[in-house]
Amino acid sequence: MEEIERKLQELQKLREAARKGGGDKRIETQHKKGKYTARERIMRLVDEGSFEEFDMFVTHRESGFGLDDPEYLSDGVVTGHATINGRQVALFSQDFTVFGGSLGEMFAKKICKVMDFAIKVGMPMIGLNDSGGARIQEGVLSLAGYADIFLRNVSASGIIPQISAILGPCAGGAVYSPAITDFTIMTKGTSYMFVTGPRVVKTVTHEDVTVDQLGGAEIHTTKSGVSHFAAEDEDDAFDLIRKLITFLPQNNMEEPPLVSCDDPIDRLEDDLNYIIPSDPNLPYDMKQVIASVVDHGDFLEIRRNWASNIICCFARFNGRSAGIIANQPSHLAGVLDIKASRKAAMFIRFCDAFNIPIVTLVDVPGFMPGTAQEYAGIILDGAKLLYAYAEATVPKITIITRKAYGGAYDVMGSKHLRGDLNYAWPMAEIAVMGPRGAVEVLYGKELDAMEPEQRDKFLAEKEKEYRDKFANPYNAAKLGFIDDVIEPRNTRFRVIRGLVSLAGKRDSNLPRKHGCIPL
Ligand code: HXC
Repeated sequence: MEEIERKLQELQKLREAARKGGGDKRIETQHKKGKYTARERIMRLVDEGSFEEFDMFVTHRESGFGLDDPEYLSDGVVTGHATINGRQVALFSQDFTVFGGSLGEMFAKKICKVMDFAIKVGMPMIGLNDSGGARIQEGVLSLAGYADIFLRNVSASGIIPQISAILGPCAGGAVYSPAITDFTIMTKGTSYMFVTGPRVVKTVTHEDVTVDQLGGAEIHTTKSGVSHFAAEDEDDAFDLIRKLITFLPQNNMEEPPLVSCDDPIDRLEDDLNYIIPSDPNLPYDMKQVIASVVDHGDFLEIRRNWASNIICCFARFNGRSAGIIANQPSHLAGVLDIKASRKAAMFIRFCDAFNIPIVTLVDVPGFMPGTAQEYAGIILDGAKLLYAYAEATVPKITIITRKAYGGAYDVMGSKHLRGDLNYAWPMAEIAVMGPRGAVEVLYGKELDAMEPEQRDKFLAEKEKEYRDKFANPYNAAKLGFIDDVIEPRNTRFRVIRGLVSLAGKRDSNLPRKHGCIPL
């Protein structure tokens, strides 16, 4: 009996030691920086009492350079599984209080084990990152550990959703694991990601930059697009993860969860009939259209502040998850440029991998012209978007609200790229190009020979003629490229009915090792 008590007490003691991480002083320092500890983070993210920990007693196997004393149980990373709103997830949470959360051999093995578990069972994998990078004392074992994780990130891609929260440092090669995952959330002011820090930048490029200017949350959500979300703080980041998960299936073999919905499916939105300005050059806010048609006006925008000329968001239609891709006329007229094309292509491929239907709202004047875009390779990036739409086999519903010009008409979920249901509002203009451009091309020589006054009159007449002939949805509808011209206020109902009818869709691509998307 006594022996049993002793053993039980020993277990408790070891557990307590592991829970202390790097000790009270370092925990205090962590809190002073406005950060939670690894275990506090997990407790705040998951359902109360649901966390099951793996490998609490793991320790590193190297020695020297301060590694030997004391011995930290868990080796600087907490791993296991839990539930979020009752749904299983796997997690790792890097513990900055132990060797700065640096990654060594056993640390990496723990992450690989929990990733293998998530892949085998088929549940989302969430990584909470806060680390000084490769553990210097463990040399190449650390580098090998990173590569082992990268390999699993790649294997898991398209099999289980992978989500990364960056809650502290993430530098050097360590950035590539989050970069492979599907969603990255950074906290403002406390996190950063870069391949090389400010000191090396100064030496190599002579630039003076702060950590925040180089790779803070603001930069990666507005300039680089590396991060999908900038959270106000850690609690905000956990709220975002919890919300994101609600739209996603557990894995690629499952459908996203169906949520009960009391928003009427036949809710008519009269305002939508009048949202398109009478002047085709004036903008309107496509987010108003989205909010009007989705359940309870609720949607979660991805990469909101990067390439805002295209909107990518998750929402629900009568409780069914959908990914919405929409041109935004109120930002750069909704033009497709390099960033917008990449943003939408990545989102479409995620939705397609995880059985999330795609709803596209089109109001696009075309691809962005000019040397800046051409030199940076817009041809390849536009092709990525086209490729992603063409390859996707999930249900695809497209609604042209106004402009669908030129190549952008084809690219944005057209019938020709296997769109299942293609609708247009009566205000739609489907043509090779906008009226002004068309008239200038067709009558260039005549226009050059005219006096300004005569020229303006001629342009106005020809533009009207062109608009009357081409700027409507009926030429496309006559050919069956548009399945129906619908009243804008009825859009919600038509999309919901469409998604119901497409729920049993079966479509596939020919067997191949993989396509050669112009990356
Ligand atoms: C071992 C490390 C460590 C590391 C930090 N520590 N980074 N131990 N290996 N990489 C330890 C520190 O010695 C310290 O130990 C504790 O963690 C906290 O670190 P501080 O420096 O006191 O914290 P802070 O001032 O907040 O600075 C954090 C930091 C800094 C900016 C992350 O520690 C730092 O610059 N670390 C090195 C970062 C780095 O260059 N890593 C390698 C990147 S290259 P004590 O005992 O005092 O608490 C890389 C390659 C990956 O990662 C390749 C993948 C393919």
